[in-house]
Amino acid sequence: MVKTVMLMGESVLAERALPVPSHEFGGARLRALAADLWDTLAERGGIGLAAPQIGVPWRFICFGLPRTVRRPATCLEVPQTALVNPTIEVLDAKEEEDWEGCLSLPGLRGRVPRPKKIRYKGWDVDGHPVERTAEGWHARVVLHEFDHLDGILYPARIRDWKHFGFISALFPQERG
Ligand code: NI
Repeated sequence: MVKTVMLMGESVLAERALPVPSHEFGGARLRALAADLWDTLAERGGIGLAAPQIGVPWRFICFGLPRTVRRPATCLEVPQTALVNPTIEVLDAKEEEDWEGCLSLPGLRGRVPRPKKIRYKGWDVDGHPVERTAEGWHARVVLHEFDHLDGILYPARIRDWKHFGFISALFPQERG
């Protein structure tokens, strides 16, 4: 079901989310939450969404898009993943800067420094372990969603405020 996306300022976006209890693995509640996140993502056209963004304070993120969906080439490298209780290890702390947006800050975009390479671990909704290394855009998407679980929104990581603003002002040539 498509859910309302919480906007910056709502307390659930500024708090640390709780670990998903292990007895929820394979259960209807976790499955329904995943379906809600995917439905909302498809409707709103994002590349990732964290449970707190639809008001659920659990450590659960979804990212990537199915192959059937039209998307920019950069999204091809992000495998469609639902990840429970993720952890992240930085493998290359050298930072890269790129543009990010967030469905909780509609209309805005900013250049955010992120570590170049990470390893992430967690579980799928059935409790099977997931472990991957990721670089570039893939790493950026996971780091952005992971931050939501610690109550961090991307503007908190921006260093150069010249590169933060409304999409309509930053990129007047872009439509939609
Ligand atoms: Ni976001």
